[in-house]
Amino acid sequence: MDGFVTGLMDRMTVREKLGQLNLPSGGDLVTGTVMNGELTEMIRKQEITGFFNVKGVRKIREMQRIAVEETRLKIPLIVGADVIHGYETIFPIPLAMSCSWDTVAIRRMTRVAATEASADGICWNFSPMVDICRDARWGRIAEGNGEDPYLGALMARAYVHGYQGDAMKANNEILACVKHFALYGASEAGRDYNTVDMSRLSMYNNYLAPYKAAVEAGVGSVMSAFNLVDGIPATANKWLLTNLLRNEWGFGGMVVTDYYSIGEMKTYGVADKKEASVLALKAGTDMDMVTVGFLDTLESALEEGLISEADIDRACRRVLETKYRMGLFDDPYKYCDTVRAEKEIFTPEHRKEAREVARETFVLMKNEGSLLPLSMDKKIALIGPMADARNNMCGMWSLTCVPSDHRSLLDGMRDAMKGRGEVFHAKGSNIYYEEEMEKGAVGFRPLERGDNGKLLREALQVAARADVIVAALGECADMSGESASRTELELPDAQQALLKELVKTGKPVVLLLFTGRPLVLNWETAHVPAILNVWFAGSEAGDAIADVLFGHAVPAGKLTTSFPRAVGQMPLYYNHLSASRPDPQDGVFNRYQSNYIDQSNEPLYPFGFGLSYTAFEYGDMRLGSECLPKNGELAVSVEVTNSGTCDGTEIVQLYLRDVMAEVARPVKELKAFRRIFLKKGEKREVVFTLTEEDLKYYHSDLQYGYDPGEFQVMVGSNSRDVQTKVFKAE
Ligand code: IFM
Repeated sequence: MDGFVTGLMDRMTVREKLGQLNLPSGGDLVTGTVMNGELTEMIRKQEITGFFNVKGVRKIREMQRIAVEETRLKIPLIVGADVIHGYETIFPIPLAMSCSWDTVAIRRMTRVAATEASADGICWNFSPMVDICRDARWGRIAEGNGEDPYLGALMARAYVHGYQGDAMKANNEILACVKHFALYGASEAGRDYNTVDMSRLSMYNNYLAPYKAAVEAGVGSVMSAFNLVDGIPATANKWLLTNLLRNEWGFGGMVVTDYYSIGEMKTYGVADKKEASVLALKAGTDMDMVTVGFLDTLESALEEGLISEADIDRACRRVLETKYRMGLFDDPYKYCDTVRAEKEIFTPEHRKEAREVARETFVLMKNEGSLLPLSMDKKIALIGPMADARNNMCGMWSLTCVPSDHRSLLDGMRDAMKGRGEVFHAKGSNIYYEEEMEKGAVGFRPLERGDNGKLLREALQVAARADVIVAALGECADMSGESASRTELELPDAQQALLKELVKTGKPVVLLLFTGRPLVLNWETAHVPAILNVWFAGSEAGDAIADVLFGHAVPAGKLTTSFPRAVGQMPLYYNHLSASRPDPQDGVFNRYQSNYIDQSNEPLYPFGFGLSYTAFEYGDMRLGSECLPKNGELAVSVEVTNSGTCDGTEIVQLYLRDVMAEVARPVKELKAFRRIFLKKGEKREVVFTLTEEDLKYYHSDLQYGYDPGEFQVMVGSNSRDVQTKVFKAE
């Protein structure tokens, strides 16, 4: 590879090298600064390295043809897209996927996504997004794996392996891009594109692990974040992109900016376009997404001595090496097989995978009196704005799919119940009251006109005919994801009002919750007997939800993000440090302790929480010894019994607390878990093996190691309900 790339670069002018660093948006899939019309002209001039946001393999193939047949250097294009949770077959949003705690599910999703995207000409995926997030106000919490760095790192690895497969040898294995490097999930006040300010200690111990895991898994590209890191925009942060990413972690791939990040350095008050381009290049950024800062300004920066040609060469080499590793020089049409596009997209096999995986991601939050699963022989009133809403099943980043081909929840339930009971449907309410929308609270949404009073009356008539009510409520797709921060996390008023009326009927109500983030569900938890959180479950949501509602599949998902009691608790996360005067948790307000006057400190639903249709009993936890010897092991075991009425999967979790350490350590941290399937009546001994690796953390000098002494080990079905024992580490 080295010789090939060097030989190629020897023939390139500076401008041609800069062309390899320039990534425009084709504009098919999002709006913004776009260049679709100009793309072919720029390819002929060798001014672009490739593009993103173009859909359709024929169009892409033609552009590739121009690049490799009509230009002097014949350098193939790289074609990117945000295939975040599927291409046309859409899987659940990543936050939901993480609630499966199942890397096999991630593999299934990523393989289907990579296969479909590559069949349509895409060879580079701007995924996985692995930003740890502790604040549900941030809409992009939907795109990540929740609040835990251990689980986040496992998921990050699985995404990279899934997309890239066997080092991108096959034409359905594509380049992954881990993002947003780094710390984007800590956007202050949960407001998107806002500032981030964090200690190095917190970065290393709480936020960096998933990015590092992606690098260790061989991710070929990294996207820098919009935010500041230590006051310097990530895109121009040399410590981040060179010292940490390349020198400490050994990353050898290419770094691309986020959309217009170089241009936005001016808004930060840090640098204008030219200076920002210089800073970004010198910091270790290789490719400029959309700003056209590198192409427009670096030639003159070179003449002025602000950069050297070696700086440009370094970035150009990384881009060309990436294309080489992907096999694009061997076969530029590797990802442009128009026959594949006909056969491999939105296939019955892929849809089956999506349906099965979706069922694993649902979290059963409450199930009083075993109301769920429902009998198919009943009369069911399916009510709510999500009941028959094909374009609200997928959530954010599903721009490449065709919602009219999807099946709604109503379709799924009707088909499942054929020849049995009956399902009656009513919309019940709009997502929002019109007045709320007109206030501008959700200003970017088109107004959904319709008389809520009339909708409610119809819903109550429908409910009157039924034995049980299924209320399909929640956020619409645009309420989470990028640029969708919220200051209130309840269900929108119109839907709350509907739910209250449905509960007043006295009929049993199941709340099916559609959401891209944790919501505040105090009233719902107190008054609704069953709550099943189905997130945004993708193109097969309708059937997958029906499967679980009727008990053809048993829910096993566990939350990877805490559900708050109030927005005022944000940021909220289970692995917090102890306060100097911790809340005694006696349920009352204690003056001069760290608690609120008006609300508990605890989440309403904790990290790791999720019920099943069956019940799991935990025996007493046992330790193999009271001591973890140096370089040794300690066995922690617990017997788990399926004591309920059906087969099911339980996720057994192990947490640790370092009781006395050089720096204050979290009250508990997830260190291991097992997903076990138990038949009804079956019991199994679950054994975890702790080593000193599990005790390590970054100290005040950022050295990674552990402090001998006392540790607590906790085992349980979620982060709150655990049994605890103590051991000593030598
Ligand atoms: O990949 C995305 C990123 O997550 C947000 N800004 C735009 C990029 C490209 O679409």
